[in-house]
Amino acid sequence: MASITLDNIVKTYPDGFTAVKGIDLDIADGEFVILVGPSGCGKSTLLRMIVGLEDISSGELRIGDEVVNDKAPRDRDLAMVFQNYALYPHLTVYENIAFPLRLAKGKFSEEEIDAKVRRASTLLELDEHLDRKPANLSGGQRQRVAMGRAIVREAQAFLFDEPLSNLDAKLRGQMRTEIARLQRALATTTVYVTHDQTEAMTLGDRVAVLRRGELQQVASPRGLYDQPVNLFVAGFIGSPPMNFLPGEVRGDVLHLPLVDVPLDDRLRRAVGDRELVIVGVRPDAFLDAETMGPGPGDGRAGRGEGVRFEADIDVTEWMGEVLYAYVPFETHDAVRGKLEELDRDLDGEGMRTQMIVALESMSRIREGDRAELWFDPSSMHVFDPESGDNLTRDEERAAELEDDAREQRKRALERARKRAAQDETPARAET
Ligand SMILES: Nc1ncnc2c1ncn2[C@@H]1O[C@H](COP(=O)(O)OP(=O)(O)OP(=O)(O)O)[C@@H](O)[C@H]1O
Ligand SMILES: [Mg+2]
Repeated sequence: MASITLDNIVKTYPDGFTAVKGIDLDIADGEFVILVGPSGCGKSTLLRMIVGLEDISSGELRIGDEVVNDKAPRDRDLAMVFQNYALYPHLTVYENIAFPLRLAKGKFSEEEIDAKVRRASTLLELDEHLDRKPANLSGGQRQRVAMGRAIVREAQAFLFDEPLSNLDAKLRGQMRTEIARLQRALATTTVYVTHDQTEAMTLGDRVAVLRRGELQQVASPRGLYDQPVNLFVAGFIGSPPMNFLPGEVRGDVLHLPLVDVPLDDRLRRAVGDRELVIVGVRPDAFLDAETMGPGPGDGRAGRGEGVRFEADIDVTEWMGEVLYAYVPFETHDAVRGKLEELDRDLDGEGMRTQMIVALESMSRIREGDRAELWFDPSSMHVFDPESGDNLTRDEERAAELEDDAREQRKRALERARKRAAQDETPARAET
């Protein structure tokens, strides 16, 4: 196992297109890092450069302390699992898993091969399928065979390129948990490409967000959600997505399309001398005022001073645990262009001129209602309308979140190592 270091990595394809524009990324030994971003942002290109399937145009790639730019893929000792896990149809599951070991001709004895295959198959719950052919397996089982092949190699790192995107939603959920558990048990350095929100937020120790070949932010999932550096990251992370509203500054007040918010110290500092900003509010920052009792900021459930406002509800969607309500609003011409550009970058389906609010399940708000909503302005993010920079980002808080994440990860790895020391097949004993 090893660390992977990307130092100003650039990829320009032979047709002149620069798909990766100078990326720096330090992946620690044993760390699980997710590469995420919209289609075409360069995720696969970056992964293929790490594995060695694609030349690096400039910059330096190191595995451990060694520069590997010019090393052939097989000498880099990395195991890659693709979306289209090509299994050999004429070989049994056992032989498919054993394949990379047999490829290293004479390096392993029959007993060694058998021990490695059996350990992987136990870890992946494939024991009873070892004699079967891939064609007769489910999608999830095939994916596990592909992972088995990566595991037996005991490579320096695992690289995954959207390994679950061919599976249906339920199976994807199961395999996601499986991969997380496995990675923790093996503590193998892992780089995982996805454009799936949930995978990005749940699997990784850290998530690297890419946009058009450029790294936007690398942080823990909580760090990205809470303290995004810019509009792009804020809009990309979170589902349903963050609402973006034009905010006009007049005197002591920030005018939003549906509500006026008094400028407190935090907001005033963020706004500076701007007259117009883009305001971001997450759907879950809102409450149905009806369900929280009378009076503004009544401190219910420890909620601070809030702001109430009335809104016309267009559509509602009751999801069981939450009620989504859609509230149309008029946007401002001066920010329309920026928000349309953002929407295109995010692979959106057209400019969002409606706000989505996530309300308590028992809320009685229904479509067509004029409803009273509540939100806490301290949950607002404020962005520069030109650069898209997050003006309310709290560097101190962001650093705390990263410290927490590192600490948690360390504990998880220690637990896994302890268990591995006690038990040869640690992963099963865990759940
Ligand atoms: N061989 C090639 N020659 C020229 N351009 C390429 C080549 N391969 C990829 N590209 C371009 O490089 C950019 C990044 O492609 P890449 O496959 O890395 O994106 P991605 O982030 O993996 O997207 P997706 O989520 O759709 O898989 C795209 O604009 C793509 O068109
Ligand atoms: Mg790709």
